[in-house]
Amino acid sequence: MVARPRRWPKAVRPAPVTPPPTGPPTDPAHALPTRPPTRPPTRPPPRPPTRRHGVGTAPAWRRPRNQRRPGGVGASMTTIGLIGAGNIGSTVARLAVRAGHDVVVSNSRGPETLSDLVAELGEHARAATATEAAEAGDVVVVTIPLKNYREVPVEPLRGKVVIDTNNYYPERDGHIAELDDESTTTAEMLQAHLPESQVVKTFNNIYFEHLLRLARPSGDPERSVLAIAGDDAAAKRTVTEVLDSLGYDAHDAGPLSEGWRFQRDTAAYADLYAGERGFDPEGGRRVDEAFLVQQLDAAKRYRDMA
Ligand SMILES: NC(=O)c1ccc[n+]([C@@H]2O[C@H](COP(=O)([O-])OP(=O)(O)OC[C@H]3O[C@@H](n4cnc5c(N)ncnc54)[C@H](OP(=O)(O)O)[C@@H]3O)[C@@H](O)[C@H]2O)c1
Repeated sequence: MVARPRRWPKAVRPAPVTPPPTGPPTDPAHALPTRPPTRPPTRPPPRPPTRRHGVGTAPAWRRPRNQRRPGGVGASMTTIGLIGAGNIGSTVARLAVRAGHDVVVSNSRGPETLSDLVAELGEHARAATATEAAEAGDVVVVTIPLKNYREVPVEPLRGKVVIDTNNYYPERDGHIAELDDESTTTAEMLQAHLPESQVVKTFNNIYFEHLLRLARPSGDPERSVLAIAGDDAAAKRTVTEVLDSLGYDAHDAGPLSEGWRFQRDTAAYADLYAGERGFDPEGGRRVDEAFLVQQLDAAKRYRDMA
């Protein structure tokens, strides 16, 4: 099993880190291209009556580090590698550290540019090159602009579960013919680039601020569900455990080829978790499995959109 916090704060209220966007964006990646500013690490108060969601607070309910449980796919999984440390990468890193994982973050510019983020995340985070993050991770998250997916190191990811958060935005990524004609999907492209890895698509259809805010412990009635898609059942079980530890249930939407159902601009895309307040960082609404399934069923291919 993946390490999981034993007790979570009832309400997760991180400080707003970016100004609200003007107008309702359809593209979280583009709506707020600025990255969340790093927050100074803070010392945990002794047994606070209410605990903040922030990473630097080292909550008392966190499972002791490296507590290995016998059996289960996640028995030895304590390190999450991140290739990409922007909006989504840093958010997943925050959730992962809070859940008791170690993280290794990387970007395109080099580990020295991630010192603020590592300082915020604390002693169980370190920065490295993308190759080193891929080597270090028991599970590795690829969370970069799609146009750069061929730069993801192949060899160190052999045999590993790779979480793919990426979306296709032609204005950012340039036109990719096989995505424009919908003969493949983004995650299938990453899988083709990483033929000996097990790619699972998730995190791509939720705005990063909402990803942070909506995380809840297992059993919390306000917990949300995230869609996953992948071709390997064991990898999907692993990712389900990872999501569980980070604060989400998982809904299996099928193989990677079904990942289009929650790609950009579909009914199951980021508006789903935004609710009435749109992409207000303080907003976000719970999504249960029934609603997610309804939206996945309602999803249309781009060619069928009016
Ligand atoms: N923003 C959201 O709310 C959101 C939600 C769901 C999914 N997504 C998708 O998730 C992906 C990441 O989005 P984001 O908003 O986090 O992007 P972002 O803030 O622009 O961050 C991108 C990160 O990727 C790194 N990167 C770029 N090329 C790389 C490479 N070749 N090797 C290693 N790292 C590399 C960048 O490093 P440098 O800064 O050093 O270049 C940066 O850390 C995108 O495909 C996006 O569409 C975004």
